[in-house]
This record gives sequence, structure tokens and C-alpha cells, in this order.
Amino acid sequence: MYRSHHCGQLRSSNINEEVTLSGWVQKSRDKGFVIWVDLRDRYGITQLIFDAERTPEAMMTMAKSLGREFVIQVTGSVIERASKNPNLETGDIEILVSKLTVLNEAKVPPFTIEDQTDGGEELRMKYRYLDIRRNPVKDNLIFRHKVTQEVRSYLSSQEFVEVETPYLIKSTPEGARDFVVPSRMNEGQFYALPQSPQTFKQLLMVGGMDKYFQIVKCFRDEDLRADRQPEFTQIDCEMAFVDQEDILNIFEGLTRHLITSIHGKDITSFPRMTYDEAMETYGNDKPDIRFGMKFGELNAVTQHKDFSVFNAAELVVGIAVPGGNSFTRKEIDGIINWLKRPQIGALGMIYSRCNDDGTYKSSVDKFYDQDDLGKWAEVTGAQSGDLVCVLSGPTDKVRAQLSALRMELAERLGLRNPKEFAPLWVTDFPLLEWDEDSKRYHAMHHPFTAPKPDQISLLDTDPGAVKANAYDLVLNGNEIGGGSIRIHDKATQALMFDHLGFTPEEAKEQFGFLMNAFEYGAPPHGGLAFGLDRLVAILGGQETIRDFIAFPKNNSGRDVMIDAPSPIDTTQLNELHLKVDLK
Ligand code: AMO
Repeated sequence: MYRSHHCGQLRSSNINEEVTLSGWVQKSRDKGFVIWVDLRDRYGITQLIFDAERTPEAMMTMAKSLGREFVIQVTGSVIERASKNPNLETGDIEILVSKLTVLNEAKVPPFTIEDQTDGGEELRMKYRYLDIRRNPVKDNLIFRHKVTQEVRSYLSSQEFVEVETPYLIKSTPEGARDFVVPSRMNEGQFYALPQSPQTFKQLLMVGGMDKYFQIVKCFRDEDLRADRQPEFTQIDCEMAFVDQEDILNIFEGLTRHLITSIHGKDITSFPRMTYDEAMETYGNDKPDIRFGMKFGELNAVTQHKDFSVFNAAELVVGIAVPGGNSFTRKEIDGIINWLKRPQIGALGMIYSRCNDDGTYKSSVDKFYDQDDLGKWAEVTGAQSGDLVCVLSGPTDKVRAQLSALRMELAERLGLRNPKEFAPLWVTDFPLLEWDEDSKRYHAMHHPFTAPKPDQISLLDTDPGAVKANAYDLVLNGNEIGGGSIRIHDKATQALMFDHLGFTPEEAKEQFGFLMNAFEYGAPPHGGLAFGLDRLVAILGGQETIRDFIAFPKNNSGRDVMIDAPSPIDTTQLNELHLKVDLK
């Protein structure tokens, strides 16, 4: 028996018991004739004591030689501590050791195994197994487990069945590049790793599974960010005989269940907003609604004067920054410089201070009088003490820039409280989006999304205006899920492929299996997928998903611990019929 208890378990009620513990040496303090060792395992820390009076000399010598991260086993009696540590759950007791076994020695770790470590990100990733010993990482993984358990339990209670779908498949277009796997047995042919199980879950509906879910790895070869990994996990779901309302209700239920079971909080409001409304009000299709600063369109109250910048602009739009009148000139210049960085790309910013005495002071007083500035305040909802920030230019660009400013200022003003959860459905997404590079329309969600039935006719005349029964679930300004009602008949699916620029042959070659299935009694169906990594990170009060993944990749898509990707030897290449021309 390696242990009778774990290291977070013993209390004063255990005093006088003989116990055996195993774990890692967190640290030791050697005072000459007394040595204290902190023994750590997943559950906590227990203090061990060796003293010259009660501990045999040979064991004292052994205790002195224990290094950080040695793996040891001890047997001893639980005694009351002379000086208690109220910060530790086991802080009332210590173990007077009678038997010490070193189970394994350890090299000095390359960074401290402490909550606040001295190890940088790259080093911690290289030794991720040591990083996982640290509480913040370990707690995140346990938290992820808990969320996953709750998801399974909720969906199972709603009669969803978890079904596994294959990883070696044919490409499914979800907007990113595929990772491909060469086939040894089929020369010159490749599998693709799924960007999502989209077509399989639809085929499960044709197969009559009715309610499917899967906690599943997805693979996308795309540029990485804090909220994107090349392999990530979805809670993938599909239902038959449902309309959009049924789906939103079920997954609103799941979201509520998670927030209640994990945080003990009830979500009082679960608003819905159309895509158009989100873009107009927040300049963004995933607005953070924990705070205001809604957009106010100012064209009507700015374009009657001689200010040519505004007069020439497609959109003039502002936000009221709460308390922003306290910003110094230098701070405002800092904000303007922040907006002018290439990542944001604004040409400048006009502002109006809302003074406490009801007057205004703007950066364009030459053009606008107090009446005009009063209207700016009215439209943006500014109160005295606020700062109205105004941008102008082409609609799409300006919305994106002001939306970035809104988020940045909210962050600086502490308005993005990670303990508050504000979910939001964004609905009625456009079916198609124009791609400037390829000069054609792409499916905004994916090609299996159904247009709103009354808008199919618009496909020929104004494709960009067609809306879909497609929706995203947004939590605290992050897109954590997305889905749609699907096309379930061959003719509409063929029409859709046609509008996406597929020839009938290409459509048949890539998606013939799905179109065939639609000829054998496909039920109306729809679904969605949550990004589990994002969901877990946000429920955990953070936004970097790497911190909630046991073995994540870095921003260049590398696993620095196992050093992947890496070259493979010529025999393997030959077997796969691959020729690599290394420059
Ligand atoms: P979508 O592409 O919107 O939909 O993906 C669903 C959710 O997955 C998460 N996500 C990611 N998380 C981490 N890293 C990534 N690279 C990444 N890409 C996406 C997001 C996103 O909302 N088959 C459809 C779902 C459906 O229609 O049912 C799909 O995959 O949180």
C-alpha cells in the first residue's frame, strides 16, 4: 500500500493515527536538529517533521538529502503542530515520520513548482508535465473535467446519445484548411482530419438517431490566437424534427445548467439579438453585453456642418465612455495612438468631453456648437462626466475599429468582470458572405445551412441579403458556439452548392454521399457545436484556452515538448508514396 491518505486529507481529528503518505517534496526547511518537509500530491500539502530527539540519526541524514520534487513515501503519526498554518487545510497537524522511503529521485526542476512560478510560457510548455503539478494548471484541468461531466449529464438527461464519428475522413469545409493524412494502402490518396463531424452528425439524423452529441476533437489548420488551437474540442450536437426555437431552448438550458452547477448562479436574462442588430449596436457579431457603451450612429447629427471628414464618411458612429471625461489629454492621445496602430487601422478619433456643468468641449469645436454636441451625447447616451468617442469611414471598417476600442476601454475601466456571465444568442446570420480574394460568395456558417425559407428566391437576385436560421451563442464577448437549421433535401442542397460556385460534378464528387442520403428520407434537422475549450476557459474566468488544455500547441502550431511536427524518415515517406523535396 503506497498510501493510507492523500496529502490534503488529514485534520486534527486524525491526531495520534498512524498514516502512510506518498507524494513529491515541495520544499524542505532544515534547521539543523529539526527538518520540515512539505509533501505534495494532487490533493494538497502535508507537513512532515523529522527532529533529532525523536528521529533516528540515519533517517535524519536521509531527510537532509531530500531534494525538490523527489518522490517519497512516509509512515508516521499525526501530531498537533506547534505553530498552526491557517492558510493550509492540513495546517493544524504534521506527521512525525517513523519510516521514509525514497521512491524516485528528481533533477532540480527548470522552474519552481509554485502557483507563481519563475518559468516562462515556452519553458513551462516544454516541461508541461511539471507545469501540470502546479495548482493553477492542475485546477484548470480538474475544472474542465467537471464542466465535461456536467455537459454529459445534462445532455444524457435530455435523451441525447453520444456517438463517435471517424477521424480519418474526407474534407468537410468549415472555412479553414484541412490537416491531411496520406494513405499507405491507397497510393496518392489522402484522408482529411475532421474540421468538425458536421456531415456525419447529419447522416446520424438520416439514420434516425434523433438526438446526438459527441465531445470530440476537431482539427483546423488556421492561424492561431489565444482562443484558437489547431486541435480543439467541440461539444457537437444535432437533433431531428426540430426548429430553431427548440434548439435554442435546449442549449439555453445547457448553458444555464452549467453556470448554476459550476458557479451556483442563476442566469436571470438570456437575450437574443439579430446579427444586424449586433453589428449596428456593438459593431461585432459577438458582443460583450456585460457593459453598455452601445454604438450611436451620428451621421444625421454631424453631416450638416463643414467638417469634411464626417461629411465624406459612410458611417459616423460614437460611444459614450463612462467617466471618460476624467481622461487627461495625454491619455486621450494614447487612445488615439492605440487606434492608429496597424492592427486597428483608424485614421484618427474625434471626441467630446461631457462636463459636469452640462457643457461640452470637443476636439472639433470649430465645426460643432453646444447644441450639436448635446445631440451627440443624446444619441450615444452620454451623461455628464463621460467622454464621447467618434470614428468615421467605411461602415464595416469603422464598426470593427470602434468595437475594438469599446472592448479595450472596457478592459481598462474594469468593466469585464470575469465572475459575471452574460450569455447572448445572436440569430439570423447572413447565409453567404462575399470573399474579396476569390471574388465569390462563401457560406458564412457552412454549406449545409438552410436559407430562411421565404428568402430562397433572393438567392438569384441579392445573395448577400439572404439570411439563414443560423445562430451563435456568445458568452462575455466570446463566440462559444454556433449552429443552424440544415438543408435536408437534395434540390436545395444542390442549389446551395451551385451558388457557392461548385459545378454539379464537384458537388457530387465531394458531397455525393450526403446528397444520396437526402434521397432516403432525411428528417428536418439542425444543431450546433460549442467550443469546449472556450466554454471552459470563460466559465473559469479566463480567455486563453491553452491554460485549460493539458498539452496545447504554441502559436506556431508546435508541441514544444514532444517536438512536433518533425521530419519522418525516408522509409516511412516511401511507404506513404510521398516525395519530399527539402530545399
Ligand atoms: P463552428 O465552426 O462555429 O461550427 O465551431 C463551433 C465552435 O467551435 C469553437 N472553435 C474553436 N475553438 C478553439 N480553436 C479553434 N480553432 C476553433 N474553431 C472553432 C468555437 C465555435 O463557436 N459544424 C459546425 C457546428 C454546427 O453547425 O453544428 C461548426 O463546427 O467556439
